[in-house]
Amino acid sequence: MSKIMKTLYLKEQDTNSIQTAAEILRNGGLVAIPTETVYGLAANALDGGAVKKIFLAKGRPQDNPLIVHVSSLEEITPLVESVDPRLYALAEKYWPGPLTVIMKKSALIPDEVSAGLDTVAIRMPSHEGARKIIAASGLPLAAPSANASGKPSPTRAAHVIEDLDGKIDAVVDGGECSVGVESTVVTLVTNPPTLLRPGGITPEQLEEVLGAIQISPAVFEKLRDNEKAESPGMKYKHYAPSAQVTIVKGSFEKYKKFVLAQKGPVCAVCFEGEGRNFEKYIEYGKENDDLSQAHHIFDALREVDAMGCDKAFVRCPTSSGVGLAVYNRLLRSAAFRVIDLDIGIPVIGLTGQTGAGKTTVAAMLREKGCYIVDTDILARRAVENPEVIDLLKKRFGDDIVNNGVLDRRELARRAFATEEGTAALSAITHPEITRLAVEEIHIAQKEGAKAAVIDAALLFDSPLHAICQKNISVIADEKIRLERIIARDGISESDAMLRINAQPPAEYYIKKADIIIDNNGEDLEEQIDFI
Ligand code: TXA
Ligand code: MG
Repeated sequence: MSKIMKTLYLKEQDTNSIQTAAEILRNGGLVAIPTETVYGLAANALDGGAVKKIFLAKGRPQDNPLIVHVSSLEEITPLVESVDPRLYALAEKYWPGPLTVIMKKSALIPDEVSAGLDTVAIRMPSHEGARKIIAASGLPLAAPSANASGKPSPTRAAHVIEDLDGKIDAVVDGGECSVGVESTVVTLVTNPPTLLRPGGITPEQLEEVLGAIQISPAVFEKLRDNEKAESPGMKYKHYAPSAQVTIVKGSFEKYKKFVLAQKGPVCAVCFEGEGRNFEKYIEYGKENDDLSQAHHIFDALREVDAMGCDKAFVRCPTSSGVGLAVYNRLLRSAAFRVIDLDIGIPVIGLTGQTGAGKTTVAAMLREKGCYIVDTDILARRAVENPEVIDLLKKRFGDDIVNNGVLDRRELARRAFATEEGTAALSAITHPEITRLAVEEIHIAQKEGAKAAVIDAALLFDSPLHAICQKNISVIADEKIRLERIIARDGISESDAMLRINAQPPAEYYIKKADIIIDNNGEDLEEQIDFI
């Protein structure tokens, strides 16, 4: 939808702004309102036509239902089939506040709000501005987060304007949202109740009132295409800046080494006091402080794009309290890419010149109880990831996918045609290759391997070398390599020479490695007895 109207900017404290907002809402218009969680894009919840405009302005999928906001308990009775007594118990403790409760809906709720479901989600916000606007309008207000669909939720009026200026009637500026992530969503329709989305109220707090609850699998896992979402909002890629986001678990020391080894303009999204270690960074709250991380996370994700970085590596949030909600949002913005650098076995990098015998060394290390991580195989698996395929399509053209299958030959032809294309291909695939490699290392650990060995021709071009305790280069004299390549691949001497000359000189491999294996013949066994 293009910019078609003038969006009125209202300040909550100004005289009449609450009344003006209420009047627009009563006339079927759209107003972005502040709440304690995130800004909401409100419309009269009882007017299907008004609610439809919300979907248009946000570009929101039609099957994703909206939350209805009220300012008092009495307003709820007509909206639901019957008021579940547990609602009063929850309201007593956590309302007004960042909690949304799902119950069976009444006929008053239009299909546009419930997206065809027979339930309705209800929340009573605590933000004074929100409460006043609801009360002044005299209406229940349907309001999703006031961002363009897919973007990080807005926690300031400026974020709303960034996404929706010219598409909505007004925005009421009520300052920065205090919580910073959306409300907890719990449904009372299932038995036991199910947590559909973690938020400002923790699972422990819910259990204090409701007894045992279950947590929807969609909170931590990617739903497969054919799976039905209990909470439709959880199935979409969400909260995402344009940059590729990766969550990194592990100590700050490990994170720092890993991020500094990345190529190109990357942004370190880290905790207070850590940023000065990096060229480009955004700090989001304090380490071990879930509330401050929640407060800053969406703003930080928006900043990543403003800084012009194409990759962001985010320190993993605190795992307790509201940290669960922050982690849940980050998982979606990272398309579930998490790299866990807390590794309990030694990790060794293995590279070398073509024909020097890297594969032979790998086989010998496997014999000794090491687990070999073959990055050639991972590079092929990386381009099977739908998010990676999307990015490749964007960069190299939609027609590299035919009938749903990636044409790897055509991709290679287009990418390797220019240096810039080659660089773009690795920029897109490396985060996924790295994630897969680290996943393999964790498998190696589980299987009781003595060490994990990352076998990579371009090890020193990859951030993976930074997570290895030791890096090995296998080298050999040119004459010997030439003979081996000709024998192995059955190619002419001049073709073999081309391959040799396409690689950096021996000094490159020697300078960057901790261990150099000189494989000109006999004593290979002795040279790998460090393991
Ligand atoms: O904090 C919040 O909840 C913010 C502020 C504005 O109140 N609102 C918000 O709305 O986050 P939205 O639309 O971005 O997210 C609503 C979530 C979605 O995941 C949606 O699928 C789910 O609630 N939801 C709404 N109605 C539902 C229903 N009847 N059954 C299951 N899930 C529902
Ligand atoms: Mg939302």
